[in-house]
Formats: sequence, structure tokens, C-alpha cells
Amino acid sequence: MPDPDAKIVILTGAGISAESGIDTFRAEDGLWAQHRVEDVATPEGFARDPELVVNFYNARRAQLPEVEPNPAHRALAQLEQAHRGEVVLITQNVDDLHERGGSETVYHMHGTLNSALCAACDHRWPAPLIMAPGDPCPACNATAARPDIVWFGEMPYDMDALFAHLGEADIFAAIGTSGNVYPAAGFVAEARRAGAHTIEFNLEPSAVGNQFQEHRTGPASHTVSAWVEDVLKWG
Ligand code: OAD
Repeated sequence: MPDPDAKIVILTGAGISAESGIDTFRAEDGLWAQHRVEDVATPEGFARDPELVVNFYNARRAQLPEVEPNPAHRALAQLEQAHRGEVVLITQNVDDLHERGGSETVYHMHGTLNSALCAACDHRWPAPLIMAPGDPCPACNATAARPDIVWFGEMPYDMDALFAHLGEADIFAAIGTSGNVYPAAGFVAEARRAGAHTIEFNLEPSAVGNQFQEHRTGPASHTVSAWVEDVLKWG
């Protein structure tokens, strides 16, 4: 019988929000087929053309009110509420579907669309629906507002806390992520070192799929909901 007190660490990626209608990055018609990463997701791209970058994230933010959490987001919220052991939810996604699905604590390691960041003083505030590059910072008044998104070449948020959680994981589950972007793609190896049982939820094996001990193949709305039902039977 699996341990009802198991510490479960979960990493989600764009695939968990795909069934809500948000484009993934690396599908054939995904975001990175429509936009150059160097232009919209790097500090250099922002320095070259802040308006282009801010507009790219404005468009992503404008989509949020049009989409709803799907059963996979809701199942993870139920897991957080009902599992006896600790549940740690880490997402690479910048949407707010985990929160709207009911999850209370979410690590947004790549930032979030709903937050603005001052590049001058690091102050954060709720992003307006339409950000502009010249927006003043409410704390220091510098015109250095940027989307609160971690771009390529920048350090993801909360890494010390995340590695500490991975070091204590009994179960590590990665859901809807292609395993192409580090450090997140290295979490499975870290969890294995800690002795965790590792499960990948995806439509196909990811780039690091061979490092997982178990695979649950299919759309996350089905596979994750079924898994959460199983886990909640342990307790
Ligand atoms: P990707 O677009 O790279 O991968 C999405 C994964 O989800 C793929 O492996 C798909 O097979 C899988 N998938 C799609 N639909 C699914 C479904 N219904 N159920 C289960 N799996 C499904 O997205 P990420 O891995 O999240 O970073 O990308 C990681 C990072 O790369 C992003 O956070 C973003 C991007 O560049 C930054 O912008 C910094």
C-alpha cells in the first residue's frame, strides 16, 4: 500500500493548460513556431524592442479571461486539499489556471502574467491588462516596468526552495512538459537522487522521459484526474 503521508512534488508545463485552450510552446503550431524566442523571451530582445515584448505578453494576458481551468488543474487542487502528506506544486506556466482551479500554493518558477516587475528596484505589482514599456513603478517611479516573466538567460524563481523540496520528495510527477528547458528538466534526476518514485504524464515521452520510472500517457485532464483519485484512496 503506498504511503498516505508521502511528500508529493509536482512540476507542470504548458501541456496541462493545452486542454483549456492555451497554446503550448513546442507543438508544430505552438508559440515558438509563431514567434522567435530571441525576440520575445530574452532580456536582449526586451532591450531591442520593449514594445514588441510587452505586446506579446499583453496578448497572452488578454487570453486569460477567455479560458477556464480543466479537470487536471482541479484534480491537483483537490490533491493539495485532501492528501495527508505535503503536496508541492511547481509550474513553469505563466497563466493563472492552477490558482483558478483552486490550488492555494503555487511556485511560478518562470514568473506570472498577472504580475509586473520593476527592473530598477525589483518591486512587483499586479500587472494592468495592457502594460506599456514606459509604465512607472509605483514604488520608485522609474520607468522600468517589465513583465514578471523569467526569460532565457535569467534565473528561475525560488530555486533554493524548489531543490530543497525535491530533496525530500517521495513522489515526483511531471505533467505536460517537454523536458527541453533546464533547470526544470533536471528535476526528475534530482528527485531520483532523493529516492523518489517518478511519474511522467504526457501525450508522448518527453526529452527526459527515459529518466521516469512510470509513464501515464494521454491527455492530462484524464490521466491526472485518475491518478489523483488513486492517490486519495491511499489515505
Ligand atoms: P512545451 O510546449 O515545450 O511542451 C508541452 C508538453 O506538453 C509536450 O511534451 C506535449 O507533448 C505535452 N502535452 C500537450 N498537450 C497535452 C495534454 N493534453 N496532456 C498532457 N500533455 C500534453 O512546454 P513546456 O515544457 O512547459 O519558458 O515548456 C517549458 C518552457 O519553455 C516554458 O515555461 C517556456 C518555454 O520556453 C519560458 O518562456 C522561459
